[in-house]
Amino acid sequence: MSNNPRNNLSTRDTSAPNAPAPNALDAFWMPFTANKAFKAHPRLLERAEGMFYFTPGGSPVLDGTAGLWCVNAGHGRAEITAAIQAQAAAMDFAPTFGVSHPLAFAAASKLALMFPAGMDHVFFTNSGSEAVDTALKIALAYQKAIGQGTRTRLIGRERGYHGVGFGGISVGGIVNNRRAFGLLPHVDHLRHTHLPENAFSVGQPPHGADLADDLDRMVALHGAETIAAVIVEPLAGSTGVLVPPVGYLERLRAVATKHGILLIFDEVITAFGRLGAATAADYFGVTPDLIACAKGLTNAAVPMGAVVAATHVHRAIVDDGPAGIELFHGYTYSAHPLACAAAIATLDLYVADGLFARAAALAPAFAAAAHALRGRPHVVDIRALGMVTGIELASRDGAPGERATELFRRAFDTGLLVRVTGEIIALSPPLIVSEAQIDEMFGRIGEILDELV
Ligand SMILES: Cc1ncc(COP(=O)(O)O)c(C=O)c1O
Repeated sequence: MSNNPRNNLSTRDTSAPNAPAPNALDAFWMPFTANKAFKAHPRLLERAEGMFYFTPGGSPVLDGTAGLWCVNAGHGRAEITAAIQAQAAAMDFAPTFGVSHPLAFAAASKLALMFPAGMDHVFFTNSGSEAVDTALKIALAYQKAIGQGTRTRLIGRERGYHGVGFGGISVGGIVNNRRAFGLLPHVDHLRHTHLPENAFSVGQPPHGADLADDLDRMVALHGAETIAAVIVEPLAGSTGVLVPPVGYLERLRAVATKHGILLIFDEVITAFGRLGAATAADYFGVTPDLIACAKGLTNAAVPMGAVVAATHVHRAIVDDGPAGIELFHGYTYSAHPLACAAAIATLDLYVADGLFARAAALAPAFAAAAHALRGRPHVVDIRALGMVTGIELASRDGAPGERATELFRRAFDTGLLVRVTGEIIALSPPLIVSEAQIDEMFGRIGEILDELV
């Protein structure tokens, strides 16, 4: 027994092995959570299968959010579990600095094959935030490698979410994620594409392609010779499902190319079927120079992220680079064997089950169900593309976000998990969702909207 009385866990109720011990909620400092409010009214999930979570009491909760935009193949897939178990038994860990293991190469090859032609080299990370910071570093290394070392500026976009590393919050455009912390120097931002005249657009909104010309303005302001890369989410998820205007991404690609600026797509949410294609790059027909991804890469069963680089980027840094280590960057757990096993099984599952095509086929019904909420109380905009939608509500006077948060709570209490950001309800269910479950989700949200003041 420990001498430290705080370590004496004998008060734990052993009749319910997974139940938190008294005061056990104190120690876990929850991420992106109102800790005090949560701990006063905890919402716990204990088990998951297919489209459902189950609370410790056994109540089902329909997963309208694929966990956190990541469990694209649905929960508890036996093929993924078996692959992780087998790999844990065969080899728990192997370093990938200077030595490696076969699954790392197999996972990278499979991922590259799934991504757009010409994007064929994979750098593994453990999260979306790490993938973003890795992509930014690769962009800077690329410019240096091709003799453009004055290009140190990074361009993001207002309302962008690129994770929580210092690189990601610097190019990101969410004030609360930035204001308490120091930021990278030499960063600027494009304007966001969320225009009021696009409210209730079906599919891609018609107005705003010209906002891509903001990159030209950055060049006019700072000089192209100072700009290394521009990073955007092709469809911005975390700030409320902002769908790119028709022609916007094509134009951004053209302006970036014209000025020798690398284009980075942050596809942490959009890759692996969310829009009904392997990537948003595929869906929109716009190929960037670097793609950051994570989440659906392993169906979230083991943390993993990746940067997928175009041939020319890899060639400049690695093939044409000097002898020795070409990129001084990497993580202990880059290409962790369990994550690689999960990724291979997940990517195989996506193909075997035809899940991206399934998402594309379901998308019209999903969008129709979302847009059917138009006219319900408080609804001021609805955006939907592929298997993701944002339903924006009017705020109560002086209490921004409160109404959507109340909807979230009521939905959870009646067995539906939705995501709330600001005053926007986001839905992004696993791609195995049935049409009946789609109707149930939007039906439930409609009922709650009718009740909300
Ligand atoms: C677009 C985007 N980039 C980066 C991230 C960060 O990923 P992670 O939370 O795995 O670090 C997220 C997470 O939601 C995201 O949506």
